[in-house]
Amino acid sequence: MKTSLVFIVITYIVGSIPFGLLFSKIKGIDIRKHGSGNIGATNVARVIGKGWGLFTLLLDFLKGYLPIKLYLLYYAQGPSDPLPGVLGLFAVCGHCFSIFLKGRGGKGVATAAGVFLAFSPKAFLAPVLIFIISVKLSGFVSVGSLLASASAPISMHLNGASPFIEPFLWLIVLVIWFQHRSNIKRLLSGKEMKI
Ligand code: G3P
Repeated sequence: MKTSLVFIVITYIVGSIPFGLLFSKIKGIDIRKHGSGNIGATNVARVIGKGWGLFTLLLDFLKGYLPIKLYLLYYAQGPSDPLPGVLGLFAVCGHCFSIFLKGRGGKGVATAAGVFLAFSPKAFLAPVLIFIISVKLSGFVSVGSLLASASAPISMHLNGASPFIEPFLWLIVLVIWFQHRSNIKRLLSGKEMKI
């Protein structure tokens, strides 16, 4: 019980670290006031360059991947242990509702990708393909993020995910879609930003 709580708190705090914002500050700007205003890799790439965007993507991804992987390797109590799912949700919520940004934050896609890969590299493949194809066809990263995130729990289910984990995967998708509400509005009104 104590270990679970420690894992949850640390996962949330690590998830809260706003790498994109920190990198933009190094470059002398506040990323929240530029481009889409998001602190994630897409906007970092858009505003301060592809290299910084990739670096943001990697670190945001690890915020989701490492806690789950660590827990699954050393502490998980078998397939009926729901805690890995809870940790995934807290990692994404840390990024989206950061303790360091008064509850504000990013859109959760890179961190969720880390969570999904930690659970199942096999199930991760379909959402990645869906992401690449939909971004190529639409020209919008947000379309890729929305479709890939929604497909991830389905792919996990088809690859035998534990039913104790699946509800948390869907909650992650809900958080991602909620955080993309301004993108959805812009997509519907034809005002979404290209990559
Ligand atoms: O992962 C975020 C992406 O889906 C949208 O980013 O900056 O275009 O709002 P952005």
